[in-house]
Amino acid sequence: MARILTGIQATGRPHLGNLLGAIEPAVQLSAQPGNESFLFIADLHSLTAIKNPVELEQNTRAVASAWLASGLDPEKTVFYRQSRLAHYHTELTWYLSCLTPYPMLANAHSFKDKAERLSDVNAGLFTYPVLMTADIILYQADYVPVGKDQKQHLEMARDITESFNRVYGEVFKIPAEVINEEVMTIPGTDGQKMSKSYNNYIDIFLPENELNKVIKKIVSDATPLEEPKNPDTDNTFKIFSLVGTPEQVAEMRKNYLAGGYGYGHAKKELYEAILTRFSRHREIYNYYFENPEALEKQLKIGEEKAEAVARKTMEEVRKLMRFA
Ligand code: ADP
Ligand code: TRP
Repeated sequence: MARILTGIQATGRPHLGNLLGAIEPAVQLSAQPGNESFLFIADLHSLTAIKNPVELEQNTRAVASAWLASGLDPEKTVFYRQSRLAHYHTELTWYLSCLTPYPMLANAHSFKDKAERLSDVNAGLFTYPVLMTADIILYQADYVPVGKDQKQHLEMARDITESFNRVYGEVFKIPAEVINEEVMTIPGTDGQKMSKSYNNYIDIFLPENELNKVIKKIVSDATPLEEPKNPDTDNTFKIFSLVGTPEQVAEMRKNYLAGGYGYGHAKKELYEAILTRFSRHREIYNYYFENPEALEKQLKIGEEKAEAVARKTMEEVRKLMRFA
């Protein structure tokens, strides 16, 4: 049985691109029998950027609610907040820090990039890859599904883990990254990749009238209503083809090609398709987001399981280090 583990930053409410590109595929992967999967909200990592405790807590709740809304079953996937097991994560981070060469961290692309861009360049940002290593090996993960941008972090994780095993004894498994090169890129309202940073995203959890407004803002060309239109170059159609049923998509394609069908019509259909496809998601999301105790209960299930694994690892580590 392989153990799959991954962390998700607590950056707030996920958008349609996150849902279709990352969350739904991960939920499907974790539902497959034969794998054991650990999924956590990396709220300690998010602390490198977010200092307001209320904002960080809200973000964590939003992310957790969205994963539950997308079908994550906390009885099958060990689903937890990193902060609730902070004593294990940070203790191991310190031991690993003392085995991590300074130049390795100083040369990390992600750190160098952030150090140039951000005004708050803190030590947490610098040691980020060490905490990430602790996150992974604390649970003896075999595979770590991540985006391309995390490849170097996984290479560092392997190096750091090998150093620990060499110095203190072979306690840890060496994790491997799983990078899905062909994940589809969901386009945003302006046709670029949908992203929080481009402010071109569709938040499917918005109240209906606001969602409708966002959809109306999708960029389209100036082809008059009565003329035929090219579905393959239009953003509304591209997004519709990801959320509509195959029959609906075929029908819309016909309408575009026939003419007499405007972008306004297509946007109205897209709005309705999103509400239909995600009605259950919206209900579950709102339920958890508005009932922190119910959400807490779901997270506690995973936090208890994670605790048992982390405790066992740390007992072994302390014994090897002669701290226990
Ligand atoms: P954002 O670009 O909005 O900040 P993140 O970088 O936080 O999103 O991405 C979180 C996850 O969602 C990652 O796994 C990423 O690959 C996925 N993702 C983000 N945007 C898209 C998109 N437009 N299409 C497909 N997947 C996406
Ligand atoms: N750094 C990852 C990101 O930004 C999040 C993360 C933290 C993570 N700890 C992890 C991912 C451990 C995989 C394994 O997306």
